Amino acid sequence: MTDIARIPKAELHVHVEGTFEPELIFAIAARNGIALSYPSVEALRAAYNFTDLQSFLNVYYAGMNVLRTQNDYYDLAIAYLKRAASHGVVHAELFFDPQAHTDRGIAFETVIDGLTRALHDARADLGMTAHLIMCFLRDQSAQSAMATLEAALPYRDRIVAVGLDSAELGNPPSKFQTVFDRARAEGFLTVAHAGEEGPPAYVWEALDLLKVSRVDHGVRSMEDPALVERLRRQRIPLTVCPLSNVKLHVVPDLARHPLKRMLDAGLVATINSDDPAYFGGYIDANFTQTIAALNLTQDEIVTLARNSFEASFIDDALKQRYLAQIDDALAVR
Ligand code: HPA
Ligand code: ZN
Repeated sequence: MTDIARIPKAELHVHVEGTFEPELIFAIAARNGIALSYPSVEALRAAYNFTDLQSFLNVYYAGMNVLRTQNDYYDLAIAYLKRAASHGVVHAELFFDPQAHTDRGIAFETVIDGLTRALHDARADLGMTAHLIMCFLRDQSAQSAMATLEAALPYRDRIVAVGLDSAELGNPPSKFQTVFDRARAEGFLTVAHAGEEGPPAYVWEALDLLKVSRVDHGVRSMEDPALVERLRRQRIPLTVCPLSNVKLHVVPDLARHPLKRMLDAGLVATINSDDPAYFGGYIDANFTQTIAALNLTQDEIVTLARNSFEASFIDDALKQRYLAQIDDALAVR
């Protein structure tokens, strides 16, 4: 069995607020003088039993409520980046949810300055590259998303793309077509969560209306052969999150996860951790458990790593450097 940490890879679907470990939630709550409704780290972790996406989101938004200062955002992001580096992640694209902070009175600048400082230190101290992707909360209005986009414009050079997350059902991509038109006009790339709980029609909308460069999750695309053919032909990447899908009951168990079928269909699928502090594992656990459950071959593992760089928002020269690092890692085995 390959040591997954030795294969260079990119992580492209991770919500920085979803990397907030209970230990750090308690530490930051204490220094900010905030009382938590759970008596201990263990009690908080024991509450991580989700029935669907919404049941998770309730806990996720409650946890991030303790984030207040620029240092809080820095500590959150650097903890993830250090951990990811130890798993062979050489490039990460981190989602953040500005509305979940600005709605509580935290300045956009506080959030992005803390996150940016962590990305900078990850490059200097860990040799990692990283980008930020700003997500709009799709269960809020399109007007709120547009206001968030406008608040982000002064920080345009620190955000590579905009995305769409939170409660999917009933909040189709079409709701945000105008916002995404403006985002692309301002020079942002676009992605969207689609086909996690929502139907294949939401993936079509993400492609046709939001012009996304890749689809986050997208596992329900497999229900629609014409959609699979479109994704395959255009090499639209899908950022798949196996442990998340099990935890949120998108799939019954890992053995029945469609990832292998996605690879067999020629899709550019990648493995990611989504909200690793909540879903029982970081990218290493997502790889090792999925490999075991689906009997993935060495070639498929290498394909997943190569796909992660192909799907990333880095320039071609850096892509080639990282792809060569995969070859080097395999050569010295
Ligand atoms: N789906 C939708 N919204 C999210 C998720 C997710 O898995 N994680 C954090 N916000
Ligand atoms: Zn996600």
